[in-house]
Amino acid sequence: MARILAASEPGAIALAAAVLSDGGLVAFPTETVYGLGADALNPIAVARIFESKGRPRFDPLIVHVADEAQLGELVVDLPPNALALANRFWPGPLTLVLPKKAVVPDIVTAGLATVAVRIPAHPVALDLIRQTQRPIAAPSANRFGRISPTYAAAVNEELGDAMNLVLDGGPCRIGVESTVIFFADNQPLLLRPGGLAVEEIEAIVGPVVIPELTEEQPLSPGRLPAHYAPRTPLAIWFGDNVATLGKRVGLLALQPPLNPRRFVAVEILSKDGDLIEAAANLFAALRRLDRLGLDLILAEPVPNRGIGLALNDRLRRASAGSEKR
Ligand code: TXA
Ligand code: MG
Repeated sequence: MARILAASEPGAIALAAAVLSDGGLVAFPTETVYGLGADALNPIAVARIFESKGRPRFDPLIVHVADEAQLGELVVDLPPNALALANRFWPGPLTLVLPKKAVVPDIVTAGLATVAVRIPAHPVALDLIRQTQRPIAAPSANRFGRISPTYAAAVNEELGDAMNLVLDGGPCRIGVESTVIFFADNQPLLLRPGGLAVEEIEAIVGPVVIPELTEEQPLSPGRLPAHYAPRTPLAIWFGDNVATLGKRVGLLALQPPLNPRRFVAVEILSKDGDLIEAAANLFAALRRLDRLGLDLILAEPVPNRGIGLALNDRLRRASAGSEKR
């Protein structure tokens, strides 16, 4: 198991920065999920990220920066709508895919001409980037295809001693990954729904298009249908009759169900049906259910608005992961 160090310990962030400068890997908290970080400008360190996650090399990483000056070193120019979103929502759970400069190693972007960047809204992440004095490439700190970690111990469950250090900053405030936006010229395209609601983005830049998934042109190589999967089979449940007799079934629901007794375990994401609270609880609840050795997890979809879009996306992909097995 990797060493978990409270980010509030004196010298903890300086130590983590030194590990990154040496080409090591540090898991660190952001407001969305924990990231597995490496110096983005060190291709060998970045290669270790792919290795330890079991992540295919065609799936590019997000680069985290602390401010606009650092951003300017990585990207060529921002279309006006990208600039508007950056000004309004950074630091925050928004990732922008932008034309990259040559300094960004190909391994970070999987050879693409663009790089995904964001300024995270977490004091520990920002402090770590500043003390390292480098942009930090970081995917979510889980094994490829699995549930993203939203607290420090979950990072160790996922990756064990694959990294040199885990900085513990407590549970993540938002709980699902950032919203990823790509620009075709100035037109924003939604590559991944996430912690920032599409409605909020549209209030600034007008309609956001959801591109079709095509095999030939995977705009975002990471848009794999099967992802975020627990080990237990998971199915989306619309309250219909499913054959559960004799099976150990767990329920993942937004609000308390009418008939909880037919389930071995029930996880409620938010008593009041609050989607923000539900997002913060989603991945930890999935992890708890996954530990019970159930035959099946039934997951109720949530209202498809605001951050609910991201929750439904994660549930759908978790169920696609089950179908594949
Ligand atoms: O909230 C988050 O975004 C977290 C925290 C740690 O920042 N990170 C995260 O990273 O979720 P990851 O690697 O799990 O997801 C990155 C997504 C993937 O779907 C990837 O394919 C996409 O961003 N992506 C990265 N670079 C891209 C590029 N140049 N073009 C299109 N999509 C890209
Ligand atoms: Mg991920």
